[in-house]
Amino acid sequence: MAKKTDYFVCSACGADFSKWNGRCTACGEWNTIIDKPQEVKVKNSGTPSAVPLSSIGKENLERIATGNSEFDLVCGGGIVPGSVILLGGEPGIGKSTLALQISQKLRALYISGEESPAQIRQRGDRISIDPSKVNISINNEVDDIISLTHKMKPGCLIVDSIQTVYNAELPGIVGSVSQVRESASRLVDLAKRNDIPVILIGHITKEGSIAGPKLLEHIVDTVLYFEGDFSREFRVLRAFKNRYGSVNELGLFRMTEQGLEEVKDKNRIFLNPFRSPSPGNAVSAAFEGSRTILFEVQALVTFSSFSNPRRLSDGFDINRLLIICAVLEKHAGLKLGNFDVFINVSGGFNISETSGDLAVAIAIASSLKEKSVEEGSGFIGEVSLAGELRPVSQIEKRVQEFRFSGFKRIYVSEGDVEKARGAGFDGEIIGARTVSQVLGLVF
Ligand code: TYD
Ligand code: MG
Repeated sequence: MAKKTDYFVCSACGADFSKWNGRCTACGEWNTIIDKPQEVKVKNSGTPSAVPLSSIGKENLERIATGNSEFDLVCGGGIVPGSVILLGGEPGIGKSTLALQISQKLRALYISGEESPAQIRQRGDRISIDPSKVNISINNEVDDIISLTHKMKPGCLIVDSIQTVYNAELPGIVGSVSQVRESASRLVDLAKRNDIPVILIGHITKEGSIAGPKLLEHIVDTVLYFEGDFSREFRVLRAFKNRYGSVNELGLFRMTEQGLEEVKDKNRIFLNPFRSPSPGNAVSAAFEGSRTILFEVQALVTFSSFSNPRRLSDGFDINRLLIICAVLEKHAGLKLGNFDVFINVSGGFNISETSGDLAVAIAIASSLKEKSVEEGSGFIGEVSLAGELRPVSQIEKRVQEFRFSGFKRIYVSEGDVEKARGAGFDGEIIGARTVSQVLGLVF
């Protein structure tokens, strides 16, 4: 039997210590360290055992459709009973709106810790849901939420947000790591024991918030993050983890006066319809889940007043940008050493694959040379450290999307030419072995 000793934990960040201290050395907060009696761990009696996997019954994986096709797609075809979904995103992105929109079909119990029932009713009217199908409670104590769920037997429990839920038996302020973690694990347990799906909403706040949803990622089944560009009306829902489906699917929404709507012309929403050929722009096609999405990379290369020129990127991995800049210097003879390089992917889109490398390289060269790329050109290819172009997955689908959007020529890696030509594109497919060859052909 383990020795029974006391230890100390920080009620703000959850770090533990063997000695009491006035200030937590992990998070820097004062007076947050509390005494915690160690639970006595008792060894199970009997010999440990295991059973063949085949003797385990199959879980009920029948999915519940929420009626919101984009949400269902991202979840892998609907919500699995007993699963726990974490819906995260910055404040104001539309988490509560989405949760309320799917709550009607699910006969949900909606726990709100942030808004009054009147505010929620108002939002419900705005997005025209049937208010008689959803039950609202503003109770934030985790045991109360659990007993209310047992009493009401809802089709789904929605908790908005997990950062406002607390456990009255635990010390620590509401929203602290220990409170959030403890409440979430109680709700996960509730979901598993009763086969009730649970949706936990979590805020990702600006740097500095330690009790963020990141800390819950490992205890939930599915992690969905809402991303978007606040200046535009589009919102992207992305699965970062999914025990019951693929993580590649993207859900695309438009925030309107009547809530979140499905986007009609999904493949082109990130392309500026009024774009004109100007130096620094290049278009590529991303493949996300079952969707091809055209996007425009914008580069600005300007003379730098710093001895260490800046490289900044929005929507594209900064480390890949550094690599591409180095490749352009070394293998294509572009002198970027005295220039700042800024990259932006239009429409707030985030590129999560390497097939956009070539478009980034071309955009940089185009801005540096102050020459625009000929209208109707698309670029698909990964760039290697040696400056070669590598083939990408699903080239046919990407080429088809360019075809539907009326593009005239597509630059691809030599290895992709054959497949790309098989995609029924009536324009030109131009294969190249290296980035430097493409630069030679384009400019
Ligand atoms: P909200 O769902 O409250 O965001 P979150 O829960 O993620 O903090 O909504 C965010 C914004 O969306 C809010 O600024 C108002 C706007 N909005 C609309 O434009 N149309 C609508 O129908 C609704 C309900 C909200
Ligand atoms: Mg909200």
